[in-house]
Amino acid sequence: MKVQITDTPITDTPEQTNQGPELSTAEGRSVFIKSYGCQMNVYDAERMEDVLAPFGFAKTDNAAEADLIILNTCHIREKADDKVFSDVGRYVKGSKKTPLIAVGGCMGQAMGRKVMQRAPNVNIVFGPQTYHRLPEFIARSGWERGFRKRVLDTDFPSLEKFDSLPKQGLRGPSAFVTIQEGCDKFCTYCVVPYTRGVELSRPVKHVLDEIKHLAENGAKEVCLLGQNVNAYHGIGESGEEWNLARLVRAVAKIDGIELIRFTTSHPSELDNELINLFAEEPKLMPYFHLPVQSGSDRILVEMNRTHTADDYLNAIDLLRMARPDIAISGDFIVGFPGETDEDFEATMELVREVNYSSAYSFMYSPRPNTPAAEMKNQVPQDVKKERLARLQELLTQQQGDFNKSFVGKTLSVLVESTGREPGQIRGRTPHNIAVNMMGNERLIGQQIRVNITHATASSLLGEIELEEVA
Ligand code: 5AD
Ligand code: SF4
Repeated sequence: MKVQITDTPITDTPEQTNQGPELSTAEGRSVFIKSYGCQMNVYDAERMEDVLAPFGFAKTDNAAEADLIILNTCHIREKADDKVFSDVGRYVKGSKKTPLIAVGGCMGQAMGRKVMQRAPNVNIVFGPQTYHRLPEFIARSGWERGFRKRVLDTDFPSLEKFDSLPKQGLRGPSAFVTIQEGCDKFCTYCVVPYTRGVELSRPVKHVLDEIKHLAENGAKEVCLLGQNVNAYHGIGESGEEWNLARLVRAVAKIDGIELIRFTTSHPSELDNELINLFAEEPKLMPYFHLPVQSGSDRILVEMNRTHTADDYLNAIDLLRMARPDIAISGDFIVGFPGETDEDFEATMELVREVNYSSAYSFMYSPRPNTPAAEMKNQVPQDVKKERLARLQELLTQQQGDFNKSFVGKTLSVLVESTGREPGQIRGRTPHNIAVNMMGNERLIGQQIRVNITHATASSLLGEIELEEVA
């Protein structure tokens, strides 16, 4: 395909990649990164900061002052795409400089050339697998020499990125670590297998070394990330494959790590060893994010989910047998092509049966080049809207009831940051509910006992137990 964008060339061949000039390490540069979408993008954004820091780029929260603006995009639903284009315009208009604009992430990967065509202000486009080469892309743009050549690089070099990244800087007592990336499940509605590539697990040593480094620098909690994290099968040092349960047990042995979480899991990959770990490993927090998407077996087949509603409910039963207080969270799609009122009622019934502590729910959004987008019987928008409102009403009520059940109880909370109001600090309970309380900032990084006094649908308010303050 021949694409004419501007008179400035797009350089995108691997050959050119390795011939580019090098970026200097001048001081006083600043980078603003906006992340859209999932937690893996949040992790990637932090790693981009680590990649750029040796080249003099300090992170700024003020886009107007930044020399480099990176939009770390999401492609999962249509709304996410549209937002990026309007944000590019907004940042360019609001800037006090003439910043270099880069679009990374899944949308960059899936529609790199289209991004270049639709947004002439964008200088660099790259995907989730190439951000370790950001300094090279900036150098290739000619920015240091006053040029603005346009650079498009959406190569797919598997796990190369992880080998090239500098050590992760610590941002707070709770850290994310990607252990598995990509997906081979090919749910018929989903772009992830096309944007993040095939399912790949990082080797055990890489993961454990990264967590040890974080713990030595003060991390207390680690959240292991992957699109299908429970399909983890990283290679151990003697060449054998480790599953997620084994990895979690090894992470629990790392000095300084007190709390462990992982996300996101797939119901078809859930084994008894992992389920039993919730009974056996006190550092593994009682919270499980297990998307089901629909409660109708007919729709689950159309979605290519490879599990039934009953398989899912049985898994929840086993998890609750292992850890009776476990908080269950999920993802739902309403209005998938062909979804009837009866199918939707089956989803509502499943939600009533599970009783969720929190959940994410979405209207089905047709994505380019996915099988579901081609299905004939698309559901009208007003029907999707009405179903989403009903589902969200039920989920919000369940979440509110779950939060209320903690009022009057004393919980252990890892303090992560200052809170919303002046004088407040903020953390999360073992069940992953945000809690705010009055307290001194020096408690950040400590686990403290908190008496829960109030609950809303989305968070808790508490008071620190007196002996903690002393
Ligand atoms: N439309 C709506 N929601 C989607 N998700 C993934 N693809 C789509 C789509 N095309 C939702 C699923 C998934 C979550 C990350 O996003 O619920 O679990
Ligand atoms: Fe997408 Fe399905 Fe893979 Fe999840 S399991 S990332 S929904 S294809």
